[in-house]
This record gives sequence, C-alpha cells and structure tokens, in this order.
Amino acid sequence: MHNKICLVTGATDGIGKITVRELAKAGATVIGVGRDPAKIQATIAEIGKTPGSVEFLTADLSSQAQIRALAEIFQSKYGRLDVLVNNAGALFNAYRETVDGIEMTFALNHLSYFLLTNLLLNTLSPTARIINVASNAHEGSTINFDDFGYKRSYSAWTAYGASKLANILFTNELARRLQGKKVTTNALHPGFVNTNFQRAAGLNMRGPLSPEEGADTQIWLATAPEVEKITGKYFVRRRDTRSSEISYDKSVARRLWDTSAKMVGL
Ligand SMILES: NC(=O)c1ccc[n+]([C@@H]2O[C@H](COP(=O)([O-])OP(=O)(O)OC[C@H]3O[C@@H](n4cnc5c(N)ncnc54)[C@H](OP(=O)(O)O)[C@@H]3O)[C@@H](O)[C@H]2O)c1
Repeated sequence: MHNKICLVTGATDGIGKITVRELAKAGATVIGVGRDPAKIQATIAEIGKTPGSVEFLTADLSSQAQIRALAEIFQSKYGRLDVLVNNAGALFNAYRETVDGIEMTFALNHLSYFLLTNLLLNTLSPTARIINVASNAHEGSTINFDDFGYKRSYSAWTAYGASKLANILFTNELARRLQGKKVTTNALHPGFVNTNFQRAAGLNMRGPLSPEEGADTQIWLATAPEVEKITGKYFVRRRDTRSSEISYDKSVARRLWDTSAKMVGL
C-alpha cells in the first residue's frame, strides 16, 4: 500500500480505527476522519509509529457543511484518493434531526457516504476503491420514500436497517454509474462486532467478533489484488454474498440516488 492515499471515516473507534491502523501498517498514507479532537489525539497515540503515516481531518459527518469543508480540505491537501472507506455510522434511540433538518440515522449513515463520495469523485485515482460499510441489518428493510427518517413511527432498528439498505443501493447504483472506469465500489457487513456503535441508542449489546475480526473484510477490500476489478458486490467474511432482493432493484436505487442528490444539494 506504499504511495496509496486512503480516507477512512469513523476512524476514532471500533472497526474504523483498526482499518486506519492496518492500512498504515501496510505502508499507506491514511487520513482518518474524526469529530472529537481529544479522541483523534488518543487514536494517533494509540496507533503509534507505522511504515505508512496516519493523519486526521475533523468533521461531524451529520452536517453537510462539514462534509463539504472536509472534501475541500482533503482535495487541497492531498489532491488524490486511492481508497475511500465510508465507515462512520450509529444507531439512535429516538427521532432527532441534524443541523440540516434531516433525521440523524439517514443523514449520518447514508447521506454522509453519498455526499462525501460524490464530492470526491473527481479526486479518485483511476483504480480507486470505494468501500461502504453496510450491515446485515438491511435485511427485511425498505426505503420509506415518504418519510425517510420514520418521523411518524420512529424505531431505532427500523431507521438503522433502512440506512444500511441505502448503503447497498448506493453502492450498486454507483457501480453502474462508474461502468467503463476502473474505479470499483463494494459494500460489506462486518459481522456482529464488539464495538460502541449502539452507544448513541443507549444500548450496549456487543457482538462476539473483535474489532480486528470485524475490520477484516473492509481492509481486505481495500488492499487485496484479487478484488481489484470486482465492483457492485456485497461481502460478508470476504465472501461475495447475496443481499436482500430490494437492494438489487434498479428503480429504487435510482430514485434513492436522485432524492439523496436533492437532499444534499448536488
Ligand atoms: N458493530 C457491529 O456489530 C456492526 C455491525 C454491522 C455494521 N456495523 C457498521 O460498522 C460501522 C462502524 O461501526 P463500529 O461498530 O465500529 O462503531 P463505533 O465503534 O461506534 O464507531 C463508529 C465511528 O463513527 C463515528 N461517528 C459517529 N457519529 C459521527 C458523526 N456524527 N460524525 C463523524 N463521525 C461519527 C464515531 O466517532 P466517535 O469515535 O467520535 O464516537 C466512531 O469513530 C458503522 O457503519 C456500523 O453501522 C457495525
């Protein structure tokens, strides 16, 4: 991974932090995105010296203005992107809105992936890889186009499942839009991992996998030569796996793309 520039969101905890560490160990220049300066400093100290380098940019990814500023700073500072890992995500116990007036789960888990990726498309190197961390929680979910954030009947898991389905629909639609190019995009489920991701929902169910085990598939997608040309797939434990039926629906994916573009002002 020498001479590769990687951008990883959700990089100060859980599987994102491990992803940053391992990519830097493999020699890449890794730019993590964090929202809390103290956690950023602690993460840099914890990762320590690596053959590659670890740097951080700060952004709260629930804010579209902050995502735009992040993309601008990234472009002016680094100029090129080889691997983008959209990883930041959370589960929220109650309906709440972002500074942009959008339900938090949909905004953070889906729109941040959508907006950051679109803003960085021109910065991608010809063989760049875009990796979207989804979840098997997408199974049984649908996209509620009349009420994305389930304002009328909010449930944490319903909103979360829908946002993770959106990750896969976005990946599939992006892969179609990138046809003819060598840039790839894939989604994945990391497994049920022992991390803090339910903290914002006041829950603390922790999975059996270590963060290292959970981060394995996304690190593999970012680095492995054998997936260099693979695009538009969903992986579980490094295996190309079938996601839910609706995740392959092209009209749903197009509609989600168009609506998301309007919501983020693209
Ligand atoms: N854990 C699981 O079992 C599991 C299963 C399936 C899918 N996933 C997915 O895996 C991804 C990573 O989750 P994880 O398990 O590693 O959880 P985690 O330990 O809670 O890490 C989530 C990361 O996202 C960051 N984040 C949250 N809100 C943010 C915001 N508004 N702006 C910027 N960054 C924000 C957090 O920042 P702070 O460090 O500042 O809190 C943290 O670094 C998520 O997309 C999640 O949906 C996890």
